[in-house]
Parts: sequence; C-alpha cells; structure tokens
Amino acid sequence: MNLLFVCLGNICRSPAAEAVFKHKLEEKKLSQYFFVDSAGTYGGHSGELADNRMRSAASKRGITLTHRSRKITSSDFEKFDLIVVMDDYNYDDVCYLAPTIEDKNKVCKMADFLKKSDFTYIPDPYYEGAEGFELVLNLLEESCETLIEQLIKEHSF
Ligand code: 4NP
Repeated sequence: MNLLFVCLGNICRSPAAEAVFKHKLEEKKLSQYFFVDSAGTYGGHSGELADNRMRSAASKRGITLTHRSRKITSSDFEKFDLIVVMDDYNYDDVCYLAPTIEDKNKVCKMADFLKKSDFTYIPDPYYEGAEGFELVLNLLEESCETLIEQLIKEHSF
C-alpha cells in the first residue's frame, strides 16, 4: 500500500506523521507492506529537512525524521492509494488537485482516526511553542495507531 501524508509546509506535521507511521510499522513488523511518504501543499520549504523543533521533539520519543520537504503534485494521485491530510485547508487544496472523482476519494483527514481526542484537525504548530509540537506528536501517535489497525483489518496484512 502506498500512503502519502500532507500538510501545508511539509516540515512539521506531515513529515512527523510519516515518521511516526513508519516507526509503528517497524514495531509491528509491517514495513514490507507499505511505501510511506509526505508532501506539502506549499512549496516554499522544498528540499529542507523538517523543522528543528519537530525533529528534536520526535527524537525524544525515539523517532527520527529524515524526509526533505516537497510539494504535492497531481501525479501523486497515480502513485498513492491513500492521501491523509492534517487540516481542512489541506483537504480543500489536495482535493482541488485530484484529477478524477476516484482520486478525490483517496483523500481523508488524519483527525478522523482520533478516538480519544476531540480534535477535528491536526493543529499547525509552526507558530507555537514546544507544547504545540508535543500535542501534534500525541495526536499523530494516536491517529497512526488507529489508521494501522484499520488498514490491517481491511487488507489482512
Ligand atoms: P506544517 O507547518 O504545515 O505542519 O509543515 C508549517 C510550516 C511552514 C509554514 C506554515 C506551516 N510556513 O508558513 O512557512
């Protein structure tokens, strides 16, 4: 399965989602079944590593971010089976790029996989303090866990 996580800048939330998801796949010995990547709807940080604050917050949880930022393109719809966005702005921007209705149906929201939290989107931590990054990682750990459980059920990995 090919999975793409998308946020605005592809330097905070989506590269963290990619790394958290991959980390959980490794723990569950499921990495061989997935190709996982991330991208942004805004290309202004293309080529950059993830934000230092996100990299250091993730590394305290044993999670390493190596992704370099890139902008999503409509050709990503050919490669990816599922495109998971962080907020409603990302949802609108990514759906706008979808070449077909079928492609649009590949887009879903990360917060839909939150069971314990009341959040309806993954909040942008870029202009926040350290707590913002911890909150995002908590939400991503929870949603990635649910997403993997759901995919295991649907595809019997
Ligand atoms: P992200 O956070 O979408 O989670 O990567 C942001 C990163 C950069 C900017 C905004 C949000 N920016 O405006 O440059």
